[in-house]
Amino acid sequence: MRRLTIDDGQLEISFRDVGSGRGVVVLLHGFPFTSEMWTSQLDALADRYRIIAPDFRGFGGSQTSPHSYTLARLADDISELLVSLGIERAVIGGLSMGGYVAFEFYRRHVQQVAGLVLADTRPDPDSAEARANRHRMAALVQAEGVTAVVEQLIPKLLSPETRTERPEVERRLRAMMGSATPSAIAHALEAMASRRDARPLLASVSVPTLVVVGADDQLTPPDESRAWSRAIDGAVFERIDGAGHVSNLERPQTFNARLLAFLDARVTTSDPPSHENRALTGRDG
Ligand code: MLT
Repeated sequence: MRRLTIDDGQLEISFRDVGSGRGVVVLLHGFPFTSEMWTSQLDALADRYRIIAPDFRGFGGSQTSPHSYTLARLADDISELLVSLGIERAVIGGLSMGGYVAFEFYRRHVQQVAGLVLADTRPDPDSAEARANRHRMAALVQAEGVTAVVEQLIPKLLSPETRTERPEVERRLRAMMGSATPSAIAHALEAMASRRDARPLLASVSVPTLVVVGADDQLTPPDESRAWSRAIDGAVFERIDGAGHVSNLERPQTFNARLLAFLDARVTTSDPPSHENRALTGRDG
């Protein structure tokens, strides 16, 4: 894990930084997870790409924001991180909440975007009902703690096959979610509730884009994902059988194969190898 101070010296964020090769890929985690969710992708991609997987403020090893924030602020955090690392352009990938931030990143920092990977996410904002539910959950987590929220979320996240055949995936998710503080969860819920509509952006996306979704995703269903992916010119759409909402964790081999096929065929950026890789190989990039 590396650490860097951003936001005018106010906040330290942590991030994984491994690999080198054909370009840089940023992977943004979902809610309320951490960059740990991308471990298998880091392993699979590191000999061909440099992967940066940050913890959003309040999650994993990153400091908690003292005040509420918007998803635009999270996008700016990632932009600042890339600038600090001397990375000009990267593929910006995110799952679910990470995807919401990827849309916001595209809106605000398009010159830094070499491609998009939008996993188990959606461009539309919350309905009034969804917003009310987030406010209820934010109150619940503050009153009763993280476990109350985890128990509400878990049944919606994983496919039936994952829950019966791969219990270790549920254990990993529970450990990640359990590591968050009530205020980190409440802040993220409020930020998601106030997120902007990204649908007007879709027709203007001019970078290679992969939309990927679990076939059993209840929260961002495949039919909806396929429909909005058509608004992005040339977007590649992939459906992952046997996976629910956390497709990269539930079916890592399939997810990695589709991601690598997309990156190898459609994306090149040229950026220096990672800090860790330089340290390992002795090269100076
Ligand atoms: C996530 O996995 O990041 C969440 O499902 C996003 C959301 O609650 O909208």
